Amino acid sequence: MEKIITRQCAWELLKEYTKTPALRSHALAVEAVMRYFAGIYGGDEELWGAVGLLHDLDYEMFPQEHCIKSARIMEGLGIDSVYIRAVMSHAYGICTDVRPESQMEKVLYTVDELTGLINAACLMRPSKSVLDIEVKSVKKKFRDKSFAAGVNRDTILNGCHMLNMDLDEIIRLTICGMREAAEDIGLKGSL
Ligand SMILES: [Fe+2]
Ligand SMILES: [Fe+2]
Repeated sequence: MEKIITRQCAWELLKEYTKTPALRSHALAVEAVMRYFAGIYGGDEELWGAVGLLHDLDYEMFPQEHCIKSARIMEGLGIDSVYIRAVMSHAYGICTDVRPESQMEKVLYTVDELTGLINAACLMRPSKSVLDIEVKSVKKKFRDKSFAAGVNRDTILNGCHMLNMDLDEIIRLTICGMREAAEDIGLKGSL
């Protein structure tokens, strides 16, 4: 595999290690949001997208070694360290001590948990769609700690701080990114 990963290669690699539909959808959601933010920050959409797609590469098979195994797999394939570092930094303070530094890493760190919250919030709606969800309903779910309790709110707030962006704005942009992939991530719903 080349040091620079095409979208097709990243997708094939993900499919090799991740069979669970929900995990594939999560990867696709994070990819879409990363691409969207790349557009905002002037980043390389292919790079940001691949990092989003691959960030949980090892999670299904090696949950106990999350991020560590991903790094080994990617190193073994000769993938460039910019991808590997970013993937490791998404679980900063939880699975790794790789602090998000680049804008790409900070966005990944922030939107990983947030896409999970938005996904859960969409599924509660009559439409089951990301296309009509509003920032304020996600905010309400954010404040309700018993809703999608596995979503780490502190990580999201840390990420907002790193990006110097307020929570409402990050939620708004993350919804926009997820809308781009609504069909693929099962959130087109019944609108
Ligand atoms: Fe993860
Ligand atoms: Fe994730």
